[in-house]
Amino acid sequence: MSQLAVINIGICGLGTVGQGVWKHLARSRAALECRLGVRLRLHRASVRDLRKKRSVAVPTAKLTTDPLAVATDPAIHIVCELIGGTTVAREVTLAALRLGKTVVSANKALLCAHGPEIFAAARKHGGHFFFEASVAGGIPIIKALREGLVANRFKLIYGILNGTCNYILTRMEREGLGYAEILADAKRLGYAEADESLDVEGWDTAHKAGILAFLAHGAWVPTNKMLVEGITRITQTDLQFAREHGFAIKLLAVIARDFASGELFVRVHPTLLPAGKVLASVNEVYNGISVTGDVVGETVYIGRGAGQDATASAVISDIADAVLLLRRGNAPLPAPAGSRCPLAPPERIRSRYYLRLDVRDRPGVLAQIATATAREGVSIADMVQRPGARPGSATLLLTTHVSNERAIRATLARLKKLGSVLGAPLLLRIADF
Ligand code: NAP
Ligand code: HSE
Repeated sequence: MSQLAVINIGICGLGTVGQGVWKHLARSRAALECRLGVRLRLHRASVRDLRKKRSVAVPTAKLTTDPLAVATDPAIHIVCELIGGTTVAREVTLAALRLGKTVVSANKALLCAHGPEIFAAARKHGGHFFFEASVAGGIPIIKALREGLVANRFKLIYGILNGTCNYILTRMEREGLGYAEILADAKRLGYAEADESLDVEGWDTAHKAGILAFLAHGAWVPTNKMLVEGITRITQTDLQFAREHGFAIKLLAVIARDFASGELFVRVHPTLLPAGKVLASVNEVYNGISVTGDVVGETVYIGRGAGQDATASAVISDIADAVLLLRRGNAPLPAPAGSRCPLAPPERIRSRYYLRLDVRDRPGVLAQIATATAREGVSIADMVQRPGARPGSATLLLTTHVSNERAIRATLARLKKLGSVLGAPLLLRIADF
């Protein structure tokens, strides 16, 4: 064993994920060393607060409050950036890459915002960047897209990519609780981001959708060009309607490519998914991704999408790949290069829609609503009326036949102007994949 090369690992950030990586690397080190043919050493780690109690015992001499000292330590070969955010994390990542080091990251926000800069720095200085843990927690979806499915072009990828939201929607459905109450549990369990609005407002899913779009199509899509909606307005009324009509509500990322025009559609929104679809039964913190390749057909991946252990599993897989790269030069395959890939504007999305409207319960209201939809060429497929939350009000739940985003938005604008419509209507899309 003593002649084996030593690979020193530095960990920037010992929070939920960092402690998981420390714990599982310490436990499985001997087996990994045997398979990789090197000695692995947890060399150093950085935290913000040295006094904070941690679930792993890290010798004080190995701890620092300076992540850049870890990233630039000449003895360290592999730097794990597990801090999160896009400021310190970016500095740490670029500093390590500029020294030709290998960086392993779980940071989808950073990659989505600065992907081209990160890969350019890696190329220029001979460093490498691994990011399996950035999408779908423990599911090896990056490896699947990049390696296992290399023969394919991807017409459609859709999936549940945020564990926190899926956990919240599942428990709302099963236990009848409100989302804010369950979010507190998601935070306690280490599923949620430090800024949980990234989860519940859909941005974390959008970051992951951006990474999958890059891997599948070679194009970086900024999140401000995507349609992004979160789960904060979903209520028991919506979940019950969905269940009664044969759907589950899931926060989905959809990445679709029209190979005739080249156009790419990337969007994130809560979706009524037919109960018969595999992903409709993916619950709790689990993520699920359907990938349709032109050669392989549909493939589906399910696994825990957030939390300490699932994420550590993905980070350690990257560490193993990084070791193989350092020892044998096995570099990962690059993403497909530069095909023209214009982003389709959201108005081009076609879908069936679900609308929830709170209205005054009085004669003529249904006629006004039917007129508003008819004026925009939107055809109502189904309508249910329920007692409203306020006296003299009613809740209308309706679905449409296939329409498009421009027409449904124009319909919403008309509805909002009606004196009989109370508050902002809720609009959800119905999946017809
Ligand atoms: P976390 O629990 O908040 O841990 C962050 C760590 O970074 C902590 O150790 C913290 O130090 C340190 N840190 C924070 N700000 C710092 C700063 N300005 N300077 C130096 N150190 C700083 O976060 P996490 O949940 O482990 O997530 C880490 C990354 O993994 C994020 O990019 C996240 O999106 C990603 N990720 C998380 C999960 C998950 O399930 N949690 C899953 C996949 C990917 P202290 O401990 O001293 O405060
Ligand atoms: N907050 C993220 C989630 C962590 O809930 O999915 C995993 O990326």
